[in-house]
Amino acid sequence: MNIDGKPYRTIWLGEDGVSAEIIDQTKLPFALEIVLLRTLEDAAHAISSMQVRGAPLIGATAAYGVALAMRADASDDGLDRACAALAATRPTAVNLRWALDEMKKELTELPQGARVAAAFARAGEICDEDVETCRKIGENGVGLIQAHAERKQGERVNILTHCNAGWLATVDWGTALAPIYRAHDEGLPVHVWVDETRPRNQGASLTAFELGAHGVPHTVIADNTGGHLMQHGLVDLCIVGTDRTTASGDVANKIGTYLKALAAKDNGVQFFVALPHSTIDWSLTDGSAIPIEQRDATEVTQMTGRLPDGSVATVTITPQDSPAANYAFDVTPARLITGFITERGLTPATAEGLRLLYPEHREQAAA
Ligand code: MRU
Repeated sequence: MNIDGKPYRTIWLGEDGVSAEIIDQTKLPFALEIVLLRTLEDAAHAISSMQVRGAPLIGATAAYGVALAMRADASDDGLDRACAALAATRPTAVNLRWALDEMKKELTELPQGARVAAAFARAGEICDEDVETCRKIGENGVGLIQAHAERKQGERVNILTHCNAGWLATVDWGTALAPIYRAHDEGLPVHVWVDETRPRNQGASLTAFELGAHGVPHTVIADNTGGHLMQHGLVDLCIVGTDRTTASGDVANKIGTYLKALAAKDNGVQFFVALPHSTIDWSLTDGSAIPIEQRDATEVTQMTGRLPDGSVATVTITPQDSPAANYAFDVTPARLITGFITERGLTPATAEGLRLLYPEHREQAAA
């Protein structure tokens, strides 16, 4: 997608052909800074510090992390150590494990001398595949927005989203935002309610940034506002992303998603989850088994923003001695979800729906 008219992806191969470059998302929306990743440690740090974040982008960065690691040590041991280090960076997004498995599949049987080139090639493919997958999610989801536009006869369609599941969370296009970009580009009158998404404010800082850069009308709201808007008929549908979805359709997503799904159910508002195949954990049938990341309490006790003099500062917002808890994700049970928007089409949020869409996983899902 574009920033100031210039097309970007969130990660790309460095000019030297053996590094990777990323947009440092911890600096957005105040500065656009590109960071060079040269080593496994750089890639692991980028993921754990959330310079890159969002399930599909975490997977893509991990793939490049393996390629960077192969430059230093392409032995079997080196491969195992790199995958273990990257797997430990963030526990919830299953795309991380998926990408590491893909890299291992690609590299294990190769002689050590061939591993660096093959690893960079596969990491590049994973990125390209993600772009195409997200483009298809947009194509498959736009009809949902179109249906509301027809019903409303030209009045704007109000879509609520939580966190950032836009192009910054993927390599390009996004998951939840892909149908929205598509609808906007096709001239449908869309407007997005952007949950600020405390504690890290991915909605206020990232979703608002990328929607604004693309010219999509949007309004940032405090996380507690969605229920009120739904009660007053001001939300036509919700579309969110996911960090891990079980074979039975339970969805782990950014903390607070569950409350929006409850409010949507109570108010008869459609609640869709957009996801690529790499976010499905076929080994789990119960969302309560999904590991929920707990992050540093300072993300709750502090906030970062721009001061009137233009500088960016971090301030503390709680009493010095008050402890804080920082659960990064929650699980929305499948029963609260209207349906999934995937690269293969739409499906109800059920085990059978997912199995029909991905028949190659039928046995795995039944196990
Ligand atoms: O902690 P983050 O920012 O990596 O969280 C991931 C997310 O951006 C969201 O949970 C998103 O909705 C799913 S990723 C497309």
